Formats: sequence, structure tokens, C-alpha cells
Amino acid sequence: RVLILDFGSQFTQLIARRLRELRVFCEIHPCTWSDEQVREFAPHAVILSGGPASTHEAAAPTAPEAVFALGVPVLGICYGEQTMCAQLGGRVEPSSHREFGRAEIELLRECPLFDGLLRVGERSSVWMSHGDRVAALPEGFHPVAQSPASPFAAIADETRHYYGLQFHPEVVHTEIGKELLANFCFRIARLSGDWSMEAYRAQAVARIREQVGDGKVICGLSGGVDSAVTALLLHEAVGEQLTCVFVDTGLLRHGEVEQIVSLFREHFNIPLVHVDAGELFLGKLAGVTDPERKRKIIGGTFIDVFEEESAKIGTVDWLAQGTLYPDVIESVSFRGPSVTIKSHHNVGGLPERMRLKLVEPLRELFKDEVRELGRELGLPEIFVGRHPFPGPGLAVRILGEITRERVQILQQADRIYLEEIRAAGLYDEIWQAFAVLLPVKTVGVMGDGRTYEAVCALRAVTSVDGMTADFYPFEAAFLGRVASRIVNEVKGINRVTYDYTSKPPGTIEWE
Ligand code: XMP
Repeated sequence: RVLILDFGSQFTQLIARRLRELRVFCEIHPCTWSDEQVREFAPHAVILSGGPASTHEAAAPTAPEAVFALGVPVLGICYGEQTMCAQLGGRVEPSSHREFGRAEIELLRECPLFDGLLRVGERSSVWMSHGDRVAALPEGFHPVAQSPASPFAAIADETRHYYGLQFHPEVVHTEIGKELLANFCFRIARLSGDWSMEAYRAQAVARIREQVGDGKVICGLSGGVDSAVTALLLHEAVGEQLTCVFVDTGLLRHGEVEQIVSLFREHFNIPLVHVDAGELFLGKLAGVTDPERKRKIIGGTFIDVFEEESAKIGTVDWLAQGTLYPDVIESVSFRGPSVTIKSHHNVGGLPERMRLKLVEPLRELFKDEVRELGRELGLPEIFVGRHPFPGPGLAVRILGEITRERVQILQQADRIYLEEIRAAGLYDEIWQAFAVLLPVKTVGVMGDGRTYEAVCALRAVTSVDGMTADFYPFEAAFLGRVASRIVNEVKGINRVTYDYTSKPPGTIEWE
């Protein structure tokens, strides 16, 4: 197993993700770990992450000395390379050319790290992000690759199996990044790539038990895969110390409430508090048309209901949340003033207000990994593969005023659209697909009569992370079929349009 020592880089979790992709077991721990902790962990290899510090600062973090006494391969990345050099007798200095972003490295001599990837003299594109650079190598080391600004872009001491990279192999912009990590794990450290999601599950359960102890935990279910996986893990870890609460806002898609309730109560036999709060939410939303106000009302009402339910349970110590790694990166790297395009953090104030500590077992995972973990936990495919769904639910897909009748109209149109998408085998190719009910009426003709009813817009996009998106290019015949079914089967809609806007400049949701 690999010990990743974290020096505070925003990419540290990406190193772990790449190792998991290579099926190598790893754990991230702070660089402040003691020698004893390192020895006890008994790693087969160590990776020192990047970090924002400079080795010149008085309080610059260093790797525990035990790392270099274990006799195992060590890979230092960026700051990790620098501290390794400084600790082993080399010299690091501020660089006159700070290098950020793309750079070209050239291989200077053969090295196991680059085996099968680059030949001497060949170049490859890498991602740099550093101010300091290594100026003199410790004894035993030699340069392996250079870039225009770094004569020591890659260095090695092959006898001791110590390697250093000034660039970041863990980010996708480094062409041969993943292969470099594979060479380090398999050729150099001779690890076997036999780690599995089953092992991750056991590790996650053990960590939850350690964190939560005998405290009581509450977990809110939304109907999405993240909260379902969180709840299943927590249940496996602490059993009856967990209470799952499902606040039904009345703003979910057709049939979803029943699905969630039966999944937990019947399929998994996990007790579930189902709060039917549809009337309350609709009442508070009456007459409200502004999207941000809708979000605020829903977020606030959700917290009220959740708090009331948790008061019934008695003392609760922990709130379990399905925060994923991309949410964590976003909240770290976008610090400072920024324009609110949409307020996504629906229930942001919950833990503070209820004085709960947070347990977030998915914090280091990406969406596709959560899905894999969901499968491992026995979550049915219909939940595992489900498209993302916004916290405020259909409220932000009903433009204008929200009424019970309009919710039902949209639920029917959306159900038909998704049925057809599934029937055409397209569901998994699409990131999100949904219908939007517009506050616009148009004239139509049905039989001998004139109609004057609402317009429904269909949206479908492909995306990797929801940050950017392309509209999905359905065939005209498919859209024709959906439009015809919606107008014929849903009373209240007499016209259907398709949204051909990508993001940017559009957003995925209409509000
Ligand atoms: P936009 O519309 O900003 O959406 O392109 C990007 C992703 O975020 C989801 N979304 C939300 N999720 N609360 C949420 O939990 C919200 O208020 C919210 N608004 C948008 C959207 O469905 C898409 O996946």
C-alpha cells in the first residue's frame, strides 16, 4: 500500500484517485504525521504531494524522517520533490521563471519512471505549478528530464528508488501522467494492482466507526445516488445509531417518493422517517416567481423541517452528508469574492444551526466512483445511474408560479420524456434530461376545438462535471415522438420545444 503525505496541494486527492484507477491501495495522511505513525502504517511506497509552502519559510513543512529510513520507493511531486531534496542535502531556491500551466519536458536519460513512455530526447507536455525550484541535487541523484525553466523537471536516485517530479503527474493535462504513476507503482514499487471497491468500502466503514464512535447520526436522503450511498455506508458502519430522514418536498419527479421509501424500508430494511411536507413547501412558495427566492425558501423550509424531525429523535451528534470531492475543490479554490450565478448550496447553514458535526464519507470520491461504490453496496441500477437532480427540485423547472396543478403537469411530461429516452437506450449517454414548464400559453387545435395551454421545453445535455455542457443532438423523429405523446397525454400542455443551448452561455437548468 501507498502512503500519500499531504502538503496541502489542491491536487492531493487527484493522486489518490489516479492510484485507485490503477487499483492500488492508498491512504492520504497529513505531512505532519510522526515517524512512529509512518512506521506503523508500513507503506510499500510513499508519495509526497505538492503544496503551497516554500522550503525557505521558517515553518516550512517537511516529510517525517522515517520516510527516508524505511528503504521503500519515494516519489516527490512539486513541493514534495523540493522538500525531499532539501531534506536529503540538496538546495532549493526561488526561481526567476515561475512556471504555471503547460510546459514541455525533454527526457535526458533512461529511467524506470519513464520506461515505455519516452525515449531520450523525446518531449511531452506536462502541467507545472511552482515558484521555487531545485538548484542543487542531493548526492546520489541525477537529472532525468528538463523543461525550459527547470533543469530538474524530473530527478532520480535509482539506487535508493527516490524520484522527484517538478510537475504534476496527477492532473489530466500531463500527457503521460497516469502512466508515470503506474510505472512508479508497478515497475518501481512492485505493487500489485489488486485493490477493489470492496476494500474501499471496508476502509470507509472502519473510518466512519472511528470518527463517529457511539454518537448518534442523522442523514437526509434526497433521492439521489450521493445521499443514498452515504446512508448505506453509515448504516453498515453504525447500524441503529443512524436515523435516515427523507423530507419529501412534493417537488420530486413522478414516482420517486415511492421508490425511495420502498428502497430503504423494503429492499434494505433500513428504517426511514418519511416526512410528507409537500403542502408546507407549496404553501410557502405560493405566488413566488423569482428563482433565487424559490431556492432560499426551499432551503430554509428544508432546514426547519429537518430540525423538527431531528428534535423528535433526541440528541443527535452528527450530520451525514454526501459531499463529493468536486464540491470540496470548488469550495477551496474559488475562495474570495465571486459572483453568485446560482446559489447551489441549498442547506449550507444546517450543521452550524443544529450544532452538528459533519461526517462526509464520500469527500474524496468522484461521481463515477460513488456510483461504483453504490453498486458494491447493492444499490439498484436505477439509483446508481440516476441523472443529477437539483436540491430545489421541480421548483426551478416550473418557471413562474408553482402550484400543485403545475407540478403534476410537469411530472407527467417529464415522465413521458424519460420513458422515451430509456426506451431508446439513450439514458446513460446523457448527463441530465428533463422537461421544463414555461409560464407561456400558446394557441393550438385539438379535434375541432381551439386550445390555449402551456408550452413545455425539453432539455438534455452531455457533460463531465456539470460545469460545462453540450445540448444532446436527438434525432428529429425521436423529438417528434416525445412531443406528440406529451401533447396527447398531458392535459395542460399543447406545445413542445427543444432547447439547443450549450453551457456556457446557457446553464443546464432554466432557473
Ligand atoms: P446549472 O443550471 O448551474 O447547473 O448549469 C449545474 C448543475 O447543478 C445542478 N443545480 C443545482 N443543484 N441545487 C442543487 O443541488 C440547486 O439550486 C441547483 N441548481 C442547479 C443542475 O441540475 C446541474 O446538474
